Amino acid sequence: MRAVLLVHGGAWAIPDILADGSIDGVKKAAKEGFIKLEKSGSAVDAVEAAVRILEDIPVFDAGHGAVLNADGDVELDAIIMNGKTLAAGAVSCVKNISNPVTLARSVMEKTDHVMLTGTGANKFAEKQGIPQVPTEELVTQHARAEWKMYQKYNESVTNLFNTQMVHDTVGAVAVDYDGNVACATSTGGITNKMVGRVGDTPVIGSGGYADNNIGAVSATGHGESILKVNLSRLVLFHMEQGKSPLEAANTALCYMEDRVTGRGGVIVVNTEGDWAAQFSTNRMAWACVKSRNLFCGLNPGECFKESLI
Ligand code: GLY
Repeated sequence: MRAVLLVHGGAWAIPDILADGSIDGVKKAAKEGFIKLEKSGSAVDAVEAAVRILEDIPVFDAGHGAVLNADGDVELDAIIMNGKTLAAGAVSCVKNISNPVTLARSVMEKTDHVMLTGTGANKFAEKQGIPQVPTEELVTQHARAEWKMYQKYNESVTNLFNTQMVHDTVGAVAVDYDGNVACATSTGGITNKMVGRVGDTPVIGSGGYADNNIGAVSATGHGESILKVNLSRLVLFHMEQGKSPLEAANTALCYMEDRVTGRGGVIVVNTEGDWAAQFSTNRMAWACVKSRNLFCGLNPGECFKESLI
């Protein structure tokens, strides 16, 4: 069994100024997530560790660096799923939390529920001793500038949502040495979203899915489009029908574009350790560690390889 850890930093038209930071960030998360995978041996531990790192890097739209809603506030969504048991935990519209993926994991492991939202999720975080941080600590200059631009062009805002011009989401998938798979996804959503808007990320089967009988997926892109086609579960459906992770990812992304004109990206593993990182946007920063090799890319068709030894 070959263990694999694969991460993404969001599918969108990443400007050159953020390109190096995005690649460095996904490489760091993939390496440290893989170390966790080797140390603890658990796919769930590895995806949580990798997503926490991405949430802490302000270049990405999750945790620190999250985009702002119409009120200029931060509302965060996250999911984690364990392919062995189909246990899942998710949070939506949480505020003042640096690492929503860890809160999602607490929902999965310490409640009888699958998703907590808004003030209820924040109350649960407090009970769990998960630290709350001031909103300003999560907000970057870039996120504030992006929000101001949206406010300025408010009338045409609905046209701006389904474009590639805004930050999007982080995620991780893993298969461990026992063949267990897991996924985790975390996001600030889309800039200038309505207060209370929930995207694809925390919705099981849309922002992520993991099942030891098939594999694991984390999705990124235009949330409303991903929700309509249930993108993560759609990829796994195609794998159940015999497609490879690469074929399944491309088929599902094409379907989303054809049916709802939506663009995005997915990272995929199966239980054999085959993997794919595919996107229909201009760019998606991704990195993968397998067998002491690190693979990464940003532009379509790109795959660089480095040895970790
Ligand atoms: N894909 C993240 C969102 O639309 O909220």
